[in-house]
Amino acid sequence: MKTIGKCHPVMGSVIARGAFLALLLATTSCGWGQSFTGKWAGSQRTLDNGELDLTILQLTQSGNLVKGVFKTLGYQGSITGSATGNHLQLMAPWDPKSTLATGELVGKDLRLVWAHHSVVFKPATAAEDIPTPAYIPPPPLKKVPYNGLAKTPPMGWNSWNLFAEKIDDATVRQIADVMVSSGMRDAGYVYVNIDDTWEGRRDAQGNIHPNHKFPDMKALADYVHSKGLKLGIYSSPGPRTCGSYPGSYGHEKQDADTFAAWGIDYLKYDWCSAAGIYKNDQLQAVYQKMGRALEETGRPIVFSLCEYGLGHVETWGPDVGGNLWRTTDDIRDQWASMIGNAHLQIATAPYAGPGHWNDPDMLEVGNGHMTTAEYQTHMALWSLLSAPLLAGNDIRNMSQTTKDILLNREVIAIDQDPLGKQATRVAQTAESETWLKPLADGGVAVGVINLGDAPKRLTVEAADLKLPGAPVRARNLWTHRGVHFTHGAYSETVPSHGILLLRVGSHAG
Ligand code: GLA
Repeated sequence: MKTIGKCHPVMGSVIARGAFLALLLATTSCGWGQSFTGKWAGSQRTLDNGELDLTILQLTQSGNLVKGVFKTLGYQGSITGSATGNHLQLMAPWDPKSTLATGELVGKDLRLVWAHHSVVFKPATAAEDIPTPAYIPPPPLKKVPYNGLAKTPPMGWNSWNLFAEKIDDATVRQIADVMVSSGMRDAGYVYVNIDDTWEGRRDAQGNIHPNHKFPDMKALADYVHSKGLKLGIYSSPGPRTCGSYPGSYGHEKQDADTFAAWGIDYLKYDWCSAAGIYKNDQLQAVYQKMGRALEETGRPIVFSLCEYGLGHVETWGPDVGGNLWRTTDDIRDQWASMIGNAHLQIATAPYAGPGHWNDPDMLEVGNGHMTTAEYQTHMALWSLLSAPLLAGNDIRNMSQTTKDILLNREVIAIDQDPLGKQATRVAQTAESETWLKPLADGGVAVGVINLGDAPKRLTVEAADLKLPGAPVRARNLWTHRGVHFTHGAYSETVPSHGILLLRVGSHAG
């Protein structure tokens, strides 16, 4: 059984991909003879399209240890846990230290509290299972031509990081309004991207319809376009999205045509349940199928591959018509997650360039769980990394601090620099690291990050900037002030997890 990735809207957690660690569990003996061994069926919730998201737990208990598999419509993964008498604790596959569900065996019922929801599991009947659809072989490899889009990293907003399943037509319209009134559109944020949970059901002809939250997708696209913005949508090459909604499996061309007819300008295509059907060495062919279908619509649609960095996507992303590809697991609004995702960009840096970008996931700026210094580092790093800038906060209620970060035009200019070179990490100590990005005007952007827990004096050495001459026109992009290199260096005190971010030109530049 493969562990596949997703961020479940109800679980609200990020699922890590790959094998996960064995657990050290409580060793209290299991009394009373109860056993959790068996196949259990429960339902966590009704989807927004009216379908019941069945959950199957196939468990085997051995002493206190419980192992097995859990499946929902959109997810299949291994699970481990511990049993103490009639009490069960299941750990999250994506974070073995965090509890996914706890509960008791009461008579024949397994009563679990699953991500704050009470779910009653009963012994599954033979009919209760998650169907695996018939295998559809992917097409032979044939390059999809470049669509001419995303010459600089895409900028916009995406619903997932904050709203998850609580997204609807009215909210998207309000977001579009605020993209204009806040100045975000004019700063370059033009894509308004609806993530998972918009999907309804397929009709008798196989056409996908939105669910009740999006009564008229074409009218919504028209509204978004009337504001000078573009509309993005989400699907999966698998039969189900990560949130268990219908994916495009077997309907790729039909869905691409539907999206084009609605006026969609951007598609995020999320591997999710495709992992239950295809192997990683088939990723390219599977993504190519949708890339070709989008091309055949004749509509310019940015193609965003979301495969968590699987299958060396950076080596073939452009060949399937991809304009950006995920290089990491889902970001969380936490320093460790953000900086970890940035570090994963080091190996893939040579593959970024105009039209095709590494995507360390959407921004968390303004979502409340990082400090101002950390959010500045997040925004600065994403810009140094030529990453897509997709705000993931509630832009209708932004603090001035959040606005100052997201709307910092000098930082945005680093991200959108037409040379399209991704920064590399040029120096590193236990307490700081330096990232350098060459710019189209011959200058550089340099960021030095304070990794420590206390404020620290950080230095940019002119010699590290690899400029053809002495540094000139150096600017601190957070204070918007000119700075001067003295004796070949510039120093400033930077708060914990903050960044000293300079744009520096050269005499010869
Ligand atoms: C995956 C993706 C996320 C988001 C969710 C939606 O976890 O990586 O960015 O799209 O699915 O279910």
